[in-house]
Amino acid sequence: MKQSAFPFPGPRPNRILGRSGNILQLLRDPLGVMGRLFESYGPLAALVAGGRTHFYSPLPDCPGTVFACGTEQMRQVVTQPDLFHHYAASGRLYPPGDDVSPRRRALKHWGAGLFAVNGEEHRRHRRLMLPALHKQRIAGYLPVMVEETQRMLDRWRPDTRRDVQADMVGLTMAIVLRSLFGAGGGETARRIGHALEESLQVLFKPATTFLPFDLPGLPYHRFINLAEEIDGEMRRLIAQKRAEGAAGEDMLGMLLAAHDEGGARFTEEELLANVMLLFSAGHETTANALTWALFLLSQHPAALAALFDELDGALHDGAPDLEQLPALPLLEGVIHESMRLLPPVPWIPRVVARPVELGGYLCPAGTELLFSIYHTHHLPELYPEPQRFEPQRWLGIRPAPYEYVPFSAGSRTCIGAGFAMLEMKVVLAMILQRFRLELVPGWRVDRSVTATLTPKGGLPVIVREQDRQWGRGPAALRGNIREMVAL
Ligand code: HEM
Repeated sequence: MKQSAFPFPGPRPNRILGRSGNILQLLRDPLGVMGRLFESYGPLAALVAGGRTHFYSPLPDCPGTVFACGTEQMRQVVTQPDLFHHYAASGRLYPPGDDVSPRRRALKHWGAGLFAVNGEEHRRHRRLMLPALHKQRIAGYLPVMVEETQRMLDRWRPDTRRDVQADMVGLTMAIVLRSLFGAGGGETARRIGHALEESLQVLFKPATTFLPFDLPGLPYHRFINLAEEIDGEMRRLIAQKRAEGAAGEDMLGMLLAAHDEGGARFTEEELLANVMLLFSAGHETTANALTWALFLLSQHPAALAALFDELDGALHDGAPDLEQLPALPLLEGVIHESMRLLPPVPWIPRVVARPVELGGYLCPAGTELLFSIYHTHHLPELYPEPQRFEPQRWLGIRPAPYEYVPFSAGSRTCIGAGFAMLEMKVVLAMILQRFRLELVPGWRVDRSVTATLTPKGGLPVIVREQDRQWGRGPAALRGNIREMVAL
């Protein structure tokens, strides 16, 4: 086993800016940087050889940053949750136990909840949350998914331009909000949604990492303001729900009622953080998955035509119900293939709790490890011609464990995977039966990567009545999407 203070191979520090230069490059284009590192150094590659880089871990001592991809690495990470810890998405900006300043208190709940707990505490939170997202319970959210999609489609006018990314965010937000609180929060929800979106962007700004000071004008100051705003709005929504009477079929009602065998319930703080997490993790991810699926279909007329035939044959212009879904294998194939090629959550972070052997190296405690779902899904040994969009491949394959992980795996598998799959099927089926989307000609499709993968600047399309003119969809595309998908 290779042993040294930080044994993973990687490049030297940037010639001018030193290690900060490598971090800057990473923040600018995480997937590009990781791809080049894996190509040069293999499936375990350091951001900088010798380590001493620190960009995610909230713990003070970080020996270095290492990236991983591939099934064996994934197996190790997700089957040993007590060795590979997870922290709040705010990462370095909110060290655990930092309660000193009241102004920073809102940070405690941002991207926290289940994300911020490990070991027995994580198991306890999941046990309390699972009933709200249990399979039978999810079926109860289907009418909300159908109604909200219908409402959106009724607003779309043929032959007009729309940003389909913004539409998908609006739709998934409305769905998760009604599923969580039992009613739409209207303006409040939109405010929370925008604040969340902006805060994710601010988190990944280089100045937030390098100048984490709470001074007006600095992005870190803005980040705290946004976290406070979200905190306040969420508290109001929860209080409103309590005042109306907590019981109900919605997720919040379930969380308020949830207790373990000993009768213990979520504390007020835990509840707030987990409701916030369900809201944030539960809409942008699904919106991205839908946006990318619609984008990929718009560029692949044969796949779109085949899917339309399947939907038309089984649904006759209506929304799918639960019994009809098994008769739509290509719909599922399109969703699987989109999330393989362009996973909505392209990488997941961990911090090594104790020294551990990883791929023949002794990985020191405190190392921050970023596992790339994106690069695993693009390995040619797992998926022949990995850059090609081929929904049909899913009719004949069943990936082995850890080969296909858009929802992660193991004890931290996405708790909303069943909800998201149902939602994506309903929304895609309803959109495609009614409309055909043409990408605006000349638009550049570039990736924007924070904790999620989205098209930079949205995805403008012309909405057409569903006229089955499949060949009129594809556009000559520019942008780094061409590195990710064979077009
Ligand atoms: C296509 C849609 C979605 C994708 C691709 C996705 C992906 C993921 C991934 C990769 C993780 C694991 C993160 C990690 O291991 O670090 C995760 C966790 C999580 N997701 Fe999702 N997600 C989606 C939709 C949803 C929905 C709809 C909800 C809730 C309604 C949700 C709630 C959560 C929660 C609470 C966790 C934390 C689980 C834990 O730490 O135990 N997600 N998701």
